[in-house]
Amino acid sequence: MSPWRSASTSASREIPTDEFEPLATYDDVIVGGGVTGLVTALLFARRGHTVAVLEAGRVGGTAVGSPRVAISRLHGAQLQTIRARTYQRVVDAYAEGVREGVEWLFDYAEGAGVDVERRDAVSYATTRAGLARVDGEYLVGRRAGLDLVKTADVDLPFATIGAVRLRDQGLVDPMDLVQALTADLRALGGVVVENAAVTGVHASAPVITSTALGDVRSERVHVCTGSPILDRGLYFGKVSARRSSVLTLTGVDASELPDALYEPVEARGRGVRASRGELLVAGSSHPTGRAPSEAALVDELARWAGAHWTGATPRRAWSGQSHSTPHGVPFVGALPRGHGRVYLATGFDGGGLPDAVYAARMLVADVTGDAADWMSVIHHRVTLPPAIAAGVGANAATVWWFAKGWAKAFANPLLPGEVPDEGAGSVGLEGLRPVARSTVDGETCTVSGVCPHLGGVVTWNDQERTWDCPLHGSRFDAQGRVVEGPSTRGLRILRP
Ligand code: FES
Repeated sequence: MSPWRSASTSASREIPTDEFEPLATYDDVIVGGGVTGLVTALLFARRGHTVAVLEAGRVGGTAVGSPRVAISRLHGAQLQTIRARTYQRVVDAYAEGVREGVEWLFDYAEGAGVDVERRDAVSYATTRAGLARVDGEYLVGRRAGLDLVKTADVDLPFATIGAVRLRDQGLVDPMDLVQALTADLRALGGVVVENAAVTGVHASAPVITSTALGDVRSERVHVCTGSPILDRGLYFGKVSARRSSVLTLTGVDASELPDALYEPVEARGRGVRASRGELLVAGSSHPTGRAPSEAALVDELARWAGAHWTGATPRRAWSGQSHSTPHGVPFVGALPRGHGRVYLATGFDGGGLPDAVYAARMLVADVTGDAADWMSVIHHRVTLPPAIAAGVGANAATVWWFAKGWAKAFANPLLPGEVPDEGAGSVGLEGLRPVARSTVDGETCTVSGVCPHLGGVVTWNDQERTWDCPLHGSRFDAQGRVVEGPSTRGLRILRP
């Protein structure tokens, strides 16, 4: 177990919740109080719409506890990955949407007094295969309008063999943005309610959104929860949930701290940046619920940082979840069988904050009818064989993990009274059902080991101390409460 526990559920700043008004009626209800949901809500409110944001947990969503994150148009080898699965014109349209997202964020941050540290973004390679990916990113990115330059000037304490640089991107504390967005939204009459987990959406006129606190009505609903919590369109099966970690480290001499936002082009590389005297290293991306030990992955990050920066001392770990689409472009738009009243935004794998603004602007334009050209290209893209193959591969892996989870549980009968060590959890058979038992902060709790979404058997995340589903990425705390969808129901508690 890493001595530096993840802070994603603990460190945050308080943003007071608004009162929930049962049966209130709005123009637009936004599900999810992260940056995507808040920007969407703010853009609607600026157009005079009445708006409510419903957040299952705390405002900020996955931004809660996060270290500073990039506002950048360049992310490792992202653009060539999209290009390999679709047409260049779709890459161009996506890149244009992201460019506008970056500009929107810089303008908004300046107007709201949110501090942005300006940095160059660099995609770097450490292998010959990686060098080919640097060349690929340069070519695809230049065609898409990014002012990329190839460079050997890489300020990192290990061997690299090439890089591509984009000047003047940025780094921001996402909770600073969340606070400013929430305040601006409220100033325009918007409502932001916490602990309002959505349990269902009925696409009637008006739309009825059911939550843990009661129902609300609206003209439209926009689901901005990261993971799609609605079954319409089966989007939970069209995105792949992945987790990755960021470790902040102190004790590195200021002259040794990197001067840019470094992201690797190789899948197993590390992202590196510095902010406010701290070193930030990121990596260990893996499908949710499928790593043997998340804590071991964070330990590995710490060892790697210690081997390259003298005196680097881990201070805090944070893990986040992202969702990738088969073609690499976020899914944004009206859901099937939603009668033009239910919208979705998901699949921000590589893009981070600019993708959130990209999605928010598309959601608003879909309603107001003033779509930019790049939005029309994205909406009318054709799914090509490489993207279909990626989707088929992801679904095959899901089926395999379904079978593996049940087989493993059946092969491991749990002994009555068996108590896991502190911070540990195990899944096994009790009678004829898989159960999940963990000990957290001295409390042993037994819950159903079967994810209520579609029956995957959960696995223990020893870094976050959560039960994670390896099928579509739902997550639950030790008491079985939902931390992250698509499941809207928790694991049944069997014994506290
Ligand atoms: S998230 Fe779909 S089965 Fe668990």
